[in-house]
Amino acid sequence: MSLIKKLESAPYRTTGNVKAARERSLEDVIETVRERILESHADLVMEARVTRSKRNEVLALVSEVIVSGDLYVSRLTRKDLAERIVQELCGLGPIDEFLDDPGVTEIMVNGPNDVYIERDGVIQKTPVRFAGEQHVLELINRIVGSAGRRVDKSSPYVDARLPDGSRVNAVIPPLSLSGPVLTIRRFPRRYSTLDELVSLGTVEPRVAEFLKTCVETRLDIVVSGGSGTGKTTTLNVLANLSEKSERVIVIEDSSELRLSLDHVIYLQTRPESVEGKGRVTVRDLLRNALRMRPDRIIIGECRGAETFDLISAMNTGHEGCMSTVHANSTRDCLSRLTAMSLMAQESVPLNVLESWIGSAVDVIVQQARASGGARRIVEVSLVGVSDGTLRLATVYDSENRRFCKELPAFFSGKVRKEVAERLEEAVNALVRGDAP
Ligand SMILES: Nc1ncnc2c1ncn2[C@@H]1O[C@H](COP(=O)(O)OP(=O)(O)O)[C@@H](O)[C@H]1O
Ligand SMILES: [Mg+2]
Repeated sequence: MSLIKKLESAPYRTTGNVKAARERSLEDVIETVRERILESHADLVMEARVTRSKRNEVLALVSEVIVSGDLYVSRLTRKDLAERIVQELCGLGPIDEFLDDPGVTEIMVNGPNDVYIERDGVIQKTPVRFAGEQHVLELINRIVGSAGRRVDKSSPYVDARLPDGSRVNAVIPPLSLSGPVLTIRRFPRRYSTLDELVSLGTVEPRVAEFLKTCVETRLDIVVSGGSGTGKTTTLNVLANLSEKSERVIVIEDSSELRLSLDHVIYLQTRPESVEGKGRVTVRDLLRNALRMRPDRIIIGECRGAETFDLISAMNTGHEGCMSTVHANSTRDCLSRLTAMSLMAQESVPLNVLESWIGSAVDVIVQQARASGGARRIVEVSLVGVSDGTLRLATVYDSENRRFCKELPAFFSGKVRKEVAERLEEAVNALVRGDAP
């Protein structure tokens, strides 16, 4: 009989003198088993913390220790006990169950007795309890410890990241008057292919096909939209359409993008230290990236002066760059790009700056949130310059169904002949309504 079966078939301690049974508190049993297992199988436990499938091996070991040590906790079957112990050893203890639920986007532990979650956008209190403040504190240190950090009286708050990319913040007494507080923001579900966006209704098939051509012809693309409209998701999908072998450098304030390409380097900014030193900005990283022989540069979001450097990079032969901008329309996006570039170069006359932007950016993809929570690509426009002025041509508009009928002259002059030919065909297909 397997150990698990044995545990199931003898759920409660049934033999022998109950007084002599080694009934102890849950924490006590967990501690005993933890010590025994870490003594002999620390590596396996570490592995199981990252790879969930390894947990069954730990469960088997835990079951063995429970049976051989005749350990028992009232009100818990031995199977439940074994699972609780595995959660403590390899997972996030009492809040581990929430990690399996894709609907849970946020887990908030406000001291040992108040645990809230956000599920499908609704914040709710859960019946979950920790054994005490020490228990919460241990969990916090286990989580942040894997990132080489620690919380204690001298550094009572910390940020860290779980192996799946979820963000963790913890703040403990004396800064917190509510006991140790832990906030986990789940790494949001990422749609990573155009097909997924098509099946979600985010993008029409023919528009998807057009965007694919834009990436393949190495146009410089900006995804624009309000906050939470799915810009980062679309950026991720578009960047994923790069050639597998391209050397792609990703620059972000906080790591969100995950590309399924072979040759990707992720760079992340750093805030200044408590002494006010060591700050590294998107601008710094972008300048550094230019010396790294990139095939493409992807900037998670342009928020300020780095916009100028991105525009400059696009204008100095760095093709296929992509980024996102927080703006509510395509026009608004161009104004934002201009205003943010001015943060870096106040002395450049506005019309000069605008024509730089016009020759740098090729495509603006406008994204919006539809009723019912759906995200849509509502507009795709080509950007260029003619007679020194910034020009914009909408090739797709979900509302007005207004398209330019052919590749605008200002645009075909901007790209190589063979690229112009491919795009001409792509624009025609879009107008005809061709879908793959
Ligand atoms: N195409 C989509 N369809 C449905 N939900 C989406 C889509 N794109 C993103 N989301 C969801 O919307 C939220 C915000 O997405 P994100 O890409 O981070 O937006 P932004 O970068 O505009 O703030 C995430 O929870 C994500 O799962
Ligand atoms: Mg974003």
